[in-house]
Amino acid sequence: MINFQESICKQVAEFKPFAYKNKINNIFSWEELAYILNTPLSTEKFHATGIDCKPTDAPYEWQTTPNIISPSNIYNYAINNVCFIQDCSRVNKRINKIAHDLEWATGYSCDAHIFFSVLKNEKDTDGFGMHKDVCHNLIIQVEGKTNFTVKDEFEIVLEPGDCVFVPLGIYHQAKSLENRLSVSFPMNPQHKVKQDRFWIDF
Ligand SMILES: [Fe+2]
Repeated sequence: MINFQESICKQVAEFKPFAYKNKINNIFSWEELAYILNTPLSTEKFHATGIDCKPTDAPYEWQTTPNIISPSNIYNYAINNVCFIQDCSRVNKRINKIAHDLEWATGYSCDAHIFFSVLKNEKDTDGFGMHKDVCHNLIIQVEGKTNFTVKDEFEIVLEPGDCVFVPLGIYHQAKSLENRLSVSFPMNPQHKVKQDRFWIDF
């Protein structure tokens, strides 16, 4: 018996744009995002669009890597900008499974990028603007609303549980309509080495 998540992943392998309403729910949460941003090692993977985010200047005594960003700087970067954290495909068991299913369906390496905006004065709501990518992308809305345009195909307001697929090279734009959280699964045809998707449970 194939579930809807697996059938969506199979449809991705046709590499044509599509969107679905309210099909993949509760894959992540604001609480999990806060946990990641408060964990020093995760901040190496944090980006705010249009900003050169600087690592913390003076390492603390037990810091194990040079590139982390302090939590107060992360907060200042995050407010009013579209932000994302890469290398998050193992952030929880559910997201790891979706990445696994996409790798299985397409044969390509898959990551999860967590996108979010926390808007206090609407400074930046459209992140990259209209653009195209070198990866295929499945985007799943987790919280809030995002206006999503796939050029020459469709425009949709993504709400929690909705998803959209954008093949590589197709122009698209995401504009936050309110505080929003989404997870994007990029698949790069140039990379076929897959992560170990084994999940440790004790
Ligand atoms: Fe994109």
